[in-house]
Amino acid sequence: MQKLAVLTSGGDAPGMNAAVRAAVRRAAYHGVQMYGVYHGYEGLMSGDIQEMSLGSVGDIIQRGGTILYSARSEEFKTEAGQQRAVEQLRKFGIEGLIVIGGDGSFRGAQKLTEKGFPTIGVPGTIDNDIPCTDFTVGFDTALNTIVEAIDKIRDTATSHERTYIIEVMGRDAGDLALWAGLAAGAESIIIPEEAQDMEDILERLHAGQRRGKKHSIIIVAEGVGSASSYADAITKATGWETRVTVLGHIQRGGSPTAMDRMLGSRMGAAAVDLLLEGKRDRMVGIQNNQIVDVDFNEALAKKHQLDLSVYQLARTLSI
Ligand code: F6P
Repeated sequence: MQKLAVLTSGGDAPGMNAAVRAAVRRAAYHGVQMYGVYHGYEGLMSGDIQEMSLGSVGDIIQRGGTILYSARSEEFKTEAGQQRAVEQLRKFGIEGLIVIGGDGSFRGAQKLTEKGFPTIGVPGTIDNDIPCTDFTVGFDTALNTIVEAIDKIRDTATSHERTYIIEVMGRDAGDLALWAGLAAGAESIIIPEEAQDMEDILERLHAGQRRGKKHSIIIVAEGVGSASSYADAITKATGWETRVTVLGHIQRGGSPTAMDRMLGSRMGAAAVDLLLEGKRDRMVGIQNNQIVDVDFNEALAKKHQLDLSVYQLARTLSI
């Protein structure tokens, strides 16, 4: 292979730039030309593709977001859209594509492979919801952003002796809520993977109150519902003053942590190596700190498993 391309797709994630940089530079190391596809699959269909030099990825490892831009494309889900994408890749003489994104982006990559075009995926999403990898690029940075925000909210929660309900992202996965809740010492963590009824939440609040606690932090994963509905229910049941914070897109931005720069660099380089080894239709992952590659079919057929031992631990530590 002499020409490869890389794109970022779906929600941006800190560390995507590190992965792009690694892909461009690892390709150059092998004497292969890398192309950047701008605006995800939208840009792939329209031919928004440019050669990337070593210098074009200088000064980006520390930057959040993605220099290639990202998009969620409905048109690419159609047969005609996928056909146009393959035609564009062939027009540029590109022989393999690296897709940095989440599961939806990987399903798109699979469609290209089905049409005879080699693709490799790099899991890039703050949600950490991709099966067959312990971590996704962007999760660690988002986690740190959330913990920093909760620490700040805790200051005011303590000062005013209030109950705060904080809603965090994660789509259908509770990883961000769970890890942030444990790391920030939340009283309750409400996640989609583990049913928790209101009685249990109230009992934990009352237990804290009985031992003199006058403020509480409750983390709600967006996948279980809105923080405001939990706040209303708590106020109704207890008469306590509550406040709601929805952290929103602040969780997706910011300079990547060292862990995400490392992960993006390792995975981006591995994706190039896999394509040059003749592999296709696979996803790069990390398991027990070792870079692995897994068949897309295998990865996408599985359901993401949240580590429930972390949930149990959090419950025992916030009694
Ligand atoms: O997948 C990343 C993510 O930030 C999810 O946590 C969230 O549900 C979703 O994207 C938000 O998407 P958008 O930025 O399109 O509103």
